[in-house]
Amino acid sequence: MRTFGKLVLAVVVVFAVLQVVRPGIPATPATAEIQAAPEVKRILEKDCYSCHSNQRRLSWFDQVVPAYWLVRHDILTAREHLNFSTLGSKAPAMRKATLYEAVNMMQLGAMPLPDFVRLHPEAKVTPEDLAALKSYLAPWSPPPNHPSNAPGSASPDGSPTPVSLAMVHTELNGFPFDPAFESWKPISTTDRGDNNTFRFILGNDVAVKAAQSGNISPWPDGTRFAKIAWEQEPGPGGLMQPGKFVQVELMLKDAHRYKDTEGWGWGRWRGLDLKPYGQDAGFVKECTGCHQPLSGNDYVYTLPITTAKVNAHEVVNNGAAAVPATLPYHPLDWGAITMYVDPKTHTTTTLYGNDAAMRGVQARTAIPPVPKSPAYPPGAVLALVTWAQRDDPHWFGARIPAEPQSVEFVQVLAEGQTSSYRRFAGAGLIEDHPAASAAAQRISFMLALAPARMP
Ligand code: HEC
Ligand code: HEC
Repeated sequence: MRTFGKLVLAVVVVFAVLQVVRPGIPATPATAEIQAAPEVKRILEKDCYSCHSNQRRLSWFDQVVPAYWLVRHDILTAREHLNFSTLGSKAPAMRKATLYEAVNMMQLGAMPLPDFVRLHPEAKVTPEDLAALKSYLAPWSPPPNHPSNAPGSASPDGSPTPVSLAMVHTELNGFPFDPAFESWKPISTTDRGDNNTFRFILGNDVAVKAAQSGNISPWPDGTRFAKIAWEQEPGPGGLMQPGKFVQVELMLKDAHRYKDTEGWGWGRWRGLDLKPYGQDAGFVKECTGCHQPLSGNDYVYTLPITTAKVNAHEVVNNGAAAVPATLPYHPLDWGAITMYVDPKTHTTTTLYGNDAAMRGVQARTAIPPVPKSPAYPPGAVLALVTWAQRDDPHWFGARIPAEPQSVEFVQVLAEGQTSSYRRFAGAGLIEDHPAASAAAQRISFMLALAPARMP
């Protein structure tokens, strides 16, 4: 018993002595506090400032070693990633992007850190908090052609001179560019109201096969994704279409080789000259940091448009894939040429082409000066698929395709013959037979759509 008493005493003494070992957490005045509505600041202060600001806001139990050491580590790491006390000095587009990332981390339950919320229930994000932040951010307003949306940090820097794809430099983490990305197949599209861009998400054969069979938890090694982003610009008839090319991002799955970066290789190339984005290898932390909340989904945000049955909730986008197999062609298996959104009807449309059509698109980009619309060869078939839009469950500020509303086909016939037109629309996509004049109008509309600009 006496030895036990001594032991307890020893533990108490060691514990007491350890309390003295407390490297500081600097608490400097906020130099450039984030500017936002009082309601928004109140929420950020309540939920996030303990770690992401220069203020010190520790509870008594955070002050006790060894908890203190862990808390200190969290705070210093957190400040490195995001500091609301200095965010005000960043460019407006950067501040806005950070707030969107913050809201999405909260919505996905990744922030505040779950362990922290367990001990500090007052920092829990409430549905009212989320609603207040969302209505403050208000994506898609002002409309994308508004002057205040003039190219900010989202626009590419460097010379706009296209570069030969074979000459593109490797990213600074050693991740190589893949010149084949332009021929990969469409997996989905997004309409981003947080930064007024459109995105194509393309996948290589491994990705497409995995998506079609639902074998995506995890995605198999060899899966490659490309995400291509364009600024939104006004097009014909009040439609919003892809304008200036912003960047392409690539991911390659190799669980072993890329085990330090969540099993994926990451790279981003900006501007038509495809300049690697990273200043050094550390840029990859931005990628993995923002994809982290999707760790349960193998770090992938996109819901592939596929008819595969997957048990987990909101992993694939079956609704958007509900295009009947009885249609004369399967456009979702073709290449993607461009997309647009109709802000009045909240629909999103993608123009697909069969192999012959895609050859027409590529032939066009090879010879400058580039004509607006391709000369599609006989045998080319174009398909215009229009979906209702819905909010992306993985990203507040994005919209993705929901139920299809119509599928239109134009088949290009031999020289001298007018192209043929068929339309399938409404519930169940039943063929209707528009008047010849309406059909002629749709044919010229579809043939004239300019392909989204590729490097
Ligand atoms: C207990 C400390 C703590 C709290 C509270 C906290 N965070 Fe974090 N946060 C961190 C840490 C640590 C990291 C770095 C994550 C990493 O390295 O994996 C981080 C990273 C982030 C990132 C950057 C992700 C990246 O790397 O791009 C965002 C955005 C973020 N937090 C938002 C928030 C928001 C919004 C709140 C409040 C709702 C919040 N955090 C509350 C500790 C915290
Ligand atoms: C601020 C958050 C954020 C950061 C940082 C980020 N991503 Fe993403 N990423 C997304 C979202 C959201 C999507 C879903 C598609 C969309 O709406 O743009 C996505 C999708 C992707 C995709 C398509 C596959 C998928 O996961 O859906 C690729 C490829 C990709 N990102 C690569 C990168 C690379 C490379 C980096 C780093 C250079 C990066 N991302 C950094 C948010 C982010």
